[in-house]
Amino acid sequence: MSRLLWQKAGVTTDAEVMRFLAGDDVILDRELFPFDIRATAAHAQGLALRGLLASNDAEAIVAALQDLDAEWSRGTFVLDDRFEDGHSAIESYLTERLGEVGGRVHLGRSRNDQVLVATRLYMIHALDTLRATLTQSARAALDRARRDEMAPMPGYTHLQRAVPSTVGLWMASFAESFTETAELVAMTRRWIDACPLGTAAGYGVNLPLPRQQVSETLGFARIVINPMAAQASRGKHELQVLAAMWQAMQDIRRLAWDLSIFSTAEFDFVRMPPETVTGSSIMPNKKNPDLAELLRASCAVVGGAMTELQQVLSLPSGYHRDLQLTKAPLVRSVRVTCDAIRLVPDLLRRTEFKLENMRRAIDGTMMATDRAVDLAASGMSFRDAYRQVGDSLDSLTSAEPEESVTARVSPGACADLRLSEIESRIAALAAE
Ligand code: ARG
Repeated sequence: MSRLLWQKAGVTTDAEVMRFLAGDDVILDRELFPFDIRATAAHAQGLALRGLLASNDAEAIVAALQDLDAEWSRGTFVLDDRFEDGHSAIESYLTERLGEVGGRVHLGRSRNDQVLVATRLYMIHALDTLRATLTQSARAALDRARRDEMAPMPGYTHLQRAVPSTVGLWMASFAESFTETAELVAMTRRWIDACPLGTAAGYGVNLPLPRQQVSETLGFARIVINPMAAQASRGKHELQVLAAMWQAMQDIRRLAWDLSIFSTAEFDFVRMPPETVTGSSIMPNKKNPDLAELLRASCAVVGGAMTELQQVLSLPSGYHRDLQLTKAPLVRSVRVTCDAIRLVPDLLRRTEFKLENMRRAIDGTMMATDRAVDLAASGMSFRDAYRQVGDSLDSLTSAEPEESVTARVSPGACADLRLSEIESRIAALAAE
């Protein structure tokens, strides 16, 4: 490992203890690294703005950071356990390139606000990606709703046949759920859109740092004012980001559930894209919806990560090394959520709907609710109508499902899906 930033003369740190302290932190820092480089450049420019760093030194630092960023993207600079963490790697690179000038960059900051700002930028980037993929998923669901808008299919409650419904209603439900979750993601982004850089170890510094300008350079909407509040946001913000991701994953879990049930021989309503279906090592006949199942299970990864974070966050004010353990659950959740949601638009586009089978699964008794409502609308008390229809379910055999769904005019229901309203919300999200 390169020389530790905080090493005391004459004391050698125990190697086994160091390995434990570092854990896989430096590997996780690979996710934060480009953001850390960006924030370091903004910090150097901020120091120069206040005359705390000569402007030619700041220029040299920014240029070296650009080189580091390029080497990082090309894979020629590798972040590994030669370094304690990504922050040390940046300083070590600058010092190697620029000598003592490299050592000037850490004036007025601490690794505590350095990790905070890099993590904040990483989360904002992840939320932007998530909002974009959720929006694409909402569009794909909306397209499917339009394609077979009035095609009848059974509506279920308790997984028991309930009333006639439509493919349009089923698919539009995902369009709206994805949209509202994308709105939650956008709200979460606004909630965390504040720059913690320049709060140092959690108590500020005896320098007039241009925090507002640095915040603007990095594209934040505002600064986190109180340095102790900045520290207190570590893990707290991660938890809220995970909550938004969990919501997205549970929308997807519902879709995955529906597709896996509807693709069984018992239902036979849908055929998942053949390229996504797997086989069995022993049963030659098997076609398994593993994709839907792993999409469904991925929600558990995010849920587990939320619990992990909640357990770590039981701390008094100020920085504590415990907070390092907030990084792994965040990175794991971002990866699984982004990897999962990216697959959804295509899955929605390419799944085949077996409209004939869906229609055939609607039996006459499913008209009972319509019939009771009709009787009540023409004057009978609803409870009497309910009993009358309930006593003669066998007579409800001949009605056409199309008749039922075209009469379902309550706002949002099969005959009035209001797809254009969902469309406008999607467009507003895309424009944000
Ligand atoms: N790896 C550390 C973390 O994630 C970086 C901050 C270290 N700060 C400190 N005071 N030891 O929390």
